[in-house]
Amino acid sequence: MKKIIIAIDGYSACGKSSTAKQVASKLNYRYVDTGAMYRAVTLYFMENYIDKTNPKSVEKALDKIEITFHHNEHTGQSETYLNGLNVEKRIREMEISQNVSEVSAIKAVRIDLVKQQQKMGRSKGLVMDGRDIGSVVFPEAELKIFMTADFDVRAERRQKELFDKDQLVDLDDVKANLKQRDTIDTTRAESPLTRPEDSVEIDTTHMFFEEQVDRIVQLADSRA
Ligand code: C5P
Repeated sequence: MKKIIIAIDGYSACGKSSTAKQVASKLNYRYVDTGAMYRAVTLYFMENYIDKTNPKSVEKALDKIEITFHHNEHTGQSETYLNGLNVEKRIREMEISQNVSEVSAIKAVRIDLVKQQQKMGRSKGLVMDGRDIGSVVFPEAELKIFMTADFDVRAERRQKELFDKDQLVDLDDVKANLKQRDTIDTTRAESPLTRPEDSVEIDTTHMFFEEQVDRIVQLADSRA
């Protein structure tokens, strides 16, 4: 069967990453979490006090950043490394979530990361999730999914996800963060989150996880 590119976009906390990961594993495809890349850049900017408003500082910083993914044999998951250091846990913290959308709105950051993401798609058999994958990174992707879910459901899922990672965060704080990111992500000048016309929308509000995965796998089989 022909291998394809599956682009999964949508709002924060719709279940994109967990679904994409499982789809990739079922199809024996590679999975790339582009949100993790924007989070890693944000971490670098914060740790190194990079002035986001100064294009020269941003360019210089981007030159020093190397993001890689490595498989963790114990968890069976792919984990994010920033300049050789495992930052998987750190980039999921609220502090990063509170700053990532501002960093992601910077044009130079997007140009840099999109270039790397396009390279990863040169050999097909890839599931990539984010905000601009079907619209900007792979406009020619054979399958584009746009995932949505009711706001309250997204907030509760995200709170549970954080709890499972030992982070106790108030539901109101989770909601405020999702609102802030939705607003910046959909209104920024550089490749804002939009639903590509040729995408299939999947509303996961009332769906079981396995249903979401099976629906995408079926769609992928029909396009391969
Ligand atoms: O997917 P995740 O919620 O981890 O993404 C974190 C943030 O990274 C998003 O809120 C968005 O600001 C940014 N992002 C982006 N483009 C992508 C993926 C993520 O702007 N392709």
